[in-house]
Amino acid sequence: MSDGTQGDLFAPPDPVASAPDLGTLHALIRRCTRCAELAEYRTQPVPGVGPEDARVFFIGEAPGRWEDQEGEPFVGKAGVYLTELLEGIDLDRSQVFITNIVKCRPPENRNPKAPEMQNCNGYLERQLSLLKPDLVVLLGRVAMERFFPREKITEAAGKPRKATIGAREVTFLPLLHPAFGIRRQDLKPEIARQFRVIREVLDQLD
Ligand code: URA
Repeated sequence: MSDGTQGDLFAPPDPVASAPDLGTLHALIRRCTRCAELAEYRTQPVPGVGPEDARVFFIGEAPGRWEDQEGEPFVGKAGVYLTELLEGIDLDRSQVFITNIVKCRPPENRNPKAPEMQNCNGYLERQLSLLKPDLVVLLGRVAMERFFPREKITEAAGKPRKATIGAREVTFLPLLHPAFGIRRQDLKPEIARQFRVIREVLDQLD
């Protein structure tokens, strides 16, 4: 501390920040009741899916209806499209980690509120610090604004940039959210082009 004091030496360690592995962290998320409205409305929290050694880490907005029922992110229409987009760049869904900014479904799929994102932030931070990915893909505006709050997704999408998480340099890539391509078929070629940037970044990192 800047005033020379050490803080409360007897304060218990934060179980989220010190969770030793994804299994322990995800068990904490599954028991979370920090957001009263979401805890009441959800079927279950949706912590995330993927191997602990994944190099690519995808962040969406929040679970929708199907994700809430199945307990896995991106399993509805946008998820089927995401899986296709991954296959198009020779990535299998099982190789990457997929999660959301908020781990519980907001009522009627409304946008997550700032306090909900804040409550979930420690979970996302611990997922990132455990996995140490090379590339973090930000799917849509909500995910991008968590890291780059002053930017516009339509301008930033498809353009990789480097930033640090802790002391590690990580590549971040904002992309249009796949749900856009479901609503606007005309955007599909642009979304597929943006996904090819993931492959280019990975090839450069090899
Ligand atoms: N959209 C998201 O942002 N996340 C999901 O898990 C599903 C749809």
